[in-house]
Formats: sequence, structure tokens, C-alpha cells
Amino acid sequence: MATESTPLPTFQQLLSLPPSLDRQKLPRHVAVIMDGNGRWARQKGLPRIVGHRQGTETLKELLRCCKDWGIPALTVYAFSTENWQRPREEVNFLMLLFETVLGQELAQLIQEDVRIQFIGSLSDLPPSLREQIQRAMTLTKDNQSLLFTVATNYGGRQELVQACQRIAMEVQCGNLTVDEINGQLVERYLYTSGLPDPDLLIRTSGEMRISNFLLWQLAYSEIYVTSTLWPDFDRGQFYRALLAYQQRERRFGKL
Ligand code: IPE
Ligand code: IPE
Ligand code: MG
Repeated sequence: MATESTPLPTFQQLLSLPPSLDRQKLPRHVAVIMDGNGRWARQKGLPRIVGHRQGTETLKELLRCCKDWGIPALTVYAFSTENWQRPREEVNFLMLLFETVLGQELAQLIQEDVRIQFIGSLSDLPPSLREQIQRAMTLTKDNQSLLFTVATNYGGRQELVQACQRIAMEVQCGNLTVDEINGQLVERYLYTSGLPDPDLLIRTSGEMRISNFLLWQLAYSEIYVTSTLWPDFDRGQFYRALLAYQQRERRFGKL
């Protein structure tokens, strides 16, 4: 069993896929609840926002790692529909941070052939962030090496409600009958339409909950929780998560 004390390969060995991981059994899609920024900062006697800023560095490195190791899809939870309830200064800081980092990193994403997409209720985001998001999605839409999805103002329940509304509308307009509604059809109305379900969900900072993330899509994902706080999550930690994943037996309800 891979644990938090599993010895790590050297830094050099982590630059490409470590040999102890089976390339054939890598997850096709990894989802991450990036939690613990505030606690990381508090432990250092710093304001919470410093943790958020450091967290973006962690994310950049994880993205690079997914590319280096051949994981084709990464989805991260950046801001939930419930996170608006935080103090206004923190919310404002986060919105500004998303916009700034996206502006700074766009050229790099293009150069590295990464396609970035945002999911969630994007219409409620500040207009300048929305513009930046649109620009980034358009300019990277044909990139192939990695599909990077950022859940921003995302809530799993909200996603299902909007899917129900849009499906009901189709029925009302006569484009769809009630009998035609099935799992496959519902999936087409989710933000993640076209993406395979996550094989692996990682949550940092030790919390054993889903916090309204990808409620439909995580039905059969393997869950890996580490006590490491998000700003400290590095290639070594990711290696441990993948090692644990490869040791799981996925059954999907069968024997
Ligand atoms: C995750 O870190 C980032 C966001 C939710 C935006 P937190 O801000 O939740 O950090 P903790 O959980 O308070 O430590
Ligand atoms: C989940 O973390 C949301 C993100 C990581 C963006 P939270 O910190 O908001 O979740 P709870 O409040 O601990 O459930
Ligand atoms: Mg948190």
C-alpha cells in the first residue's frame, strides 16, 4: 500500500514518469480539490491570500507534471458556488488572482499545447475575468497535449440543476421526449460533456468530503486524500497518489 511515508524517487527520477508507475495504467483524467491554502498560510503566520498565491505555483507545477508524465486530462476545483460566502476581501483577491495568473500564463499554455477550459456558472464572474477566460479558451481550443479544466464558480448541484432546466426546455419545445432522457443524454448537458469521468480524485489537506465537486462524474472515481496542504503538494506527493491509485482494484459494481 502506498502511504504518506512511501519513499520517494529522487528529484531527477521525478522529471519523467518514475519506473515504479505503470504507463499503461495511468489515470486518463485526474481531478483535484486543491484545499488547505488558508491553513498553510496560517501555519506560517501569514495572511490567507499568501496561501492562495503559493497555491497557483503548485498548480503550475502539477500541470507541467501531468504533461511530462503523459496524463491527458486534469480538472481542478478553483472556486465553488459556496466560496462566495467568504469575506469579500478574500473573494475579490481570488478573482483578481485568477485573472492575473491566467494573463501571465496564457502564452506558456499555448506554447506547451495545453487546452484550457473553464466550467461553472461563468456568467456570475467579474466581466474582466470573463473576458480573459473567453480569450484563453479560444486561443487554446485546438491544443492537444493536455486538457486542463478549471472549475470556477462551480457547484455540482448547480450543474445538475442547469442540466435539468436545459433538458426540460428541449422537452417543452418538442425537440426531445421524456423517454429519450437517459444517463448518456444527461452527460451531454453537463459542463464536462466530452471528458471521460475522473479515474482519480485527489483532495489535499485531509478533509474527507467532496464539497459539491463533480457530483455526477465522481460516481466511480478512486479517491485519494492526503494531509499535505495544497501549497506543499509536489511531484513526490503526486507520485504517491498515482502509486496508490495503481494499487486499487476498480470493480464498478461487478465481482
Ligand atoms: C482552497 O484553500 C482554495 C479555495 C477554496 C479557493 P482554502 O482557502 O479552502 O484553505 P483552507 O481550507 O481554509 O485551509
Ligand atoms: C472546496 O474547498 C472548494 C475548492 C477547493 C475550491 P472548501 O475549502 O471550500 O471546502 P469545505 O468548505 O472545506 O467543504
Ligand atoms: Mg478549504
